[in-house]
Amino acid sequence: MTSSTLAIEGISVETARHGSPLVLVDNVSLILGAGEVLALVGANGSGKSLTCAASLDVLPPGTRMTSGSVSIDGSVLQRSMLRARHIATIMQNPRSAFNPVRTMQEHARETLSALGIPKAEGDQRILQAIRASGLDEPERLLRLHSFEMSGGMLQRMMIALALATEAPFLFADEPTTDLDLIVQREILDLLDHLKRERRLGILLVTHDMGVVAKLADRVAVMDGGRIVETAPVADIFLAPRHVTTQRLVEAHLSLYNLSGVAA
Ligand SMILES: Nc1ncnc2c1ncn2[C@@H]1O[C@H](COP(=O)(O)OP(=O)(O)O)[C@@H](O)[C@H]1O
Ligand SMILES: [Mg+2]
Repeated sequence: MTSSTLAIEGISVETARHGSPLVLVDNVSLILGAGEVLALVGANGSGKSLTCAASLDVLPPGTRMTSGSVSIDGSVLQRSMLRARHIATIMQNPRSAFNPVRTMQEHARETLSALGIPKAEGDQRILQAIRASGLDEPERLLRLHSFEMSGGMLQRMMIALALATEAPFLFADEPTTDLDLIVQREILDLLDHLKRERRLGILLVTHDMGVVAKLADRVAVMDGGRIVETAPVADIFLAPRHVTTQRLVEAHLSLYNLSGVAA
């Protein structure tokens, strides 16, 4: 598929608290191009996950989208149609995405048959996608259940399922937060490789500015449900304009400022 631009426009999400409406996401717009990583950053609770969920029409109970649309190359699409077909997703806890009584093969066939892909083609696609995700022995892995695999392997399997759908965009919501540091680095390298090789457009949700520095091309900063700054990654680190961005960058740099810790 050769979609080149995903535009999320004017997304707002509300909940009801003590009987009155409370805005959780306030008029958020984002643009993501092919072959680009857009990092969506901000403190816990700033509205990053709800922005993604609203865009894909999978908001949790108790919340509702009050405005907004999503378009690809200028055509507004029904949000439920975007899932898998145009936008694949990976999440923080890959283990929770798999049903423990089913094999990887069953998960793969379900995902691909829901897209109308014939079984033989789907089986071929998943074998290739598993290899492209850096896992060996795909035939053996497809017979495994999630409890027989490590967190890193499961996150690679989530990425393999995403690749097998051939969706041009990927939403990755805190994809490395639950993984140990070495596996984190491997998954980030894999995403970087897929961005370059497949021109995948990636919306990378994270609160980790180290991840941003490694992977992002552009950065959107959220605070209290709003986007407060959007800029190329170099500007975010070298010339942050909004106080929220400045604090995120300072907190990140202070981790490396060992003389500051000693003083
Ligand atoms: N199902 C829900 N019902 C009510 N409020 C919610 C629900 N889910 C999230 N929220 C609230 O919406 C805000 C944004 O949440 P979220 O998008 O998950 O933040 P982030 O992903 O940036 O950590 C938070 O204040 C959170 O408490
Ligand atoms: Mg979140």
